[in-house]
Amino acid sequence: MSAMIAKMMSTSSGTSLSSTTSPPPQPTSLPVRTIPGGYGWPLLGPISDRLDYFWFQGPETFFRKRIEKNKSRVFRTNVPPTFPLFLGVDPNVVAVLDVKSFSHLFDMDLVEKKNTLIGDFMPSVKFTGDVRVCAYLDTSEPQHSQVKNFAMDILKRSSTIWASTVISKLDTMWDTIESDISKSGSSTYLTSLQQFIFSFLTRCLVGADPSSSPEIAESGYAMLNRWLALQLLPTVKVGLLQPLEEIFLHSFAYPFLLVQFDYNKLVKFVEKEGKEVIERGESEFKLSSQDAIHNLMFILGFNAFGGFSVFFPSLFTAIANDETGIQEKLRKEVREKCGSSDSPLSFDSVKEMELVQSFVYETLRLNPPVPLQYGRARRDFKLSSHDSVYEIKKGELLCGYQPLVMRDPEVFDDPETFVADRFTKEKGKELLSYLFWSNGPQTGSPTESNKQCVAKDYVTLTASLFVAYLFQRYDSITIDSSSGAITAVQKAK
Ligand code: HEM
Repeated sequence: MSAMIAKMMSTSSGTSLSSTTSPPPQPTSLPVRTIPGGYGWPLLGPISDRLDYFWFQGPETFFRKRIEKNKSRVFRTNVPPTFPLFLGVDPNVVAVLDVKSFSHLFDMDLVEKKNTLIGDFMPSVKFTGDVRVCAYLDTSEPQHSQVKNFAMDILKRSSTIWASTVISKLDTMWDTIESDISKSGSSTYLTSLQQFIFSFLTRCLVGADPSSSPEIAESGYAMLNRWLALQLLPTVKVGLLQPLEEIFLHSFAYPFLLVQFDYNKLVKFVEKEGKEVIERGESEFKLSSQDAIHNLMFILGFNAFGGFSVFFPSLFTAIANDETGIQEKLRKEVREKCGSSDSPLSFDSVKEMELVQSFVYETLRLNPPVPLQYGRARRDFKLSSHDSVYEIKKGELLCGYQPLVMRDPEVFDDPETFVADRFTKEKGKELLSYLFWSNGPQTGSPTESNKQCVAKDYVTLTASLFVAYLFQRYDSITIDSSSGAITAVQKAK
């Protein structure tokens, strides 16, 4: 594996992995191949692929089967949404499914990210107050730098309260889970978890306490869930009875009208309670007040709340599925580095916990919360995979499905297995260059010139705090692996 990595870094015939912006070296020795696969008959091809994607195969099998059929990790296919009511959406993509071909998506000289957040389909800008927010902006648009710097500033300023806020909101969350267990024998935890996520993020990003508005404190998280669902449904497999899911969830875009009241209530709250942050957006980053408000809403609701709502449950699932005694190992490390519950956890203390951090990275490797990434070729260029070079034409849409890219056997040993300590020690640290959940390598840095997640380090450190808190407070927890519910917690002795 290390030899492979060394080879990729020194003689890469594709894009450079050490930087998200530098131009790639030109291809040298790999054979040039025509991109295999295809788009099928007009209308029929996209519909057949859509049914495979959502119904007959599911996303992972969809991409796996096409890798097998084309004998290549780079191929042409369609991805949903498609006909009948997505007339303006072009489903044709070039899938890039190994680490090397996928990383072209980070090279802003090669790909444009304008309106490609979830593919060629973009939900109406009405969902974001008629503002095209940061995640839909390309780096060539001046507004991107302004908003990205605004977002980075919000995080920087919140750094002094972030860890302590997370810990105090975790106290509340776990008190509720314990009380659920003692009342009814188990806790399905999702509501408590989302209340926790909503309240710590609102405090850290907006500077607001949700309890200043009883309605927002009670149902702000549910309002965000509905707002997120309507934007994402056309592109996500939910698992409802078929063909009902195809007919009702994947055939048309939902109108903003259905969540207008929720969104407007949240905007009012953010406008009032987040006044200081919005004013800084206007004065220091030269944003209009509407741009500042709706970008702040999107960062809070889509990027941050949406991201953590997918990510935290996968940490529980990783614990539930473990058969290697990981709880004991994590508990040992947490107690050694930070003692029992009266020693406060911080970003600095979790940085000392190598296994906790590796456990978080491994969860992100196998379950990247944002599974698909897209980028449109700015010009004709040569794209390399591990074994071949392909000619990409200007305007073609590249589509990377990360759960498979992160199981690239050329880079990760035993790629399908959850190996909790995979990212520890010298060899493990090298692998961080190939951990891509944030739309860039874990060793990269988000800047105004790239599209890497602003909160790349906050996300992994917050998740490490989440895990460390758990094993500081409890000796062990029991999670039912079929229902996902927490059925018992053993308090720290
Ligand atoms: C588990 C949580 C999170 C995950 C999984 C996540 C993931 C991502 C990903 C994959 C992208 C790139 C999307 C693309 O262009 O393809 C992104 C962008 C972004 N994220 Fe995060 N994110 C998370 C949390 C956060 C938080 C807490 C913030 C708060 C500031 C944030 C702010 C942003 C912003 C502003 C962008 C756009 C960057 C740009 O346009 O240059 N994210 N995130």
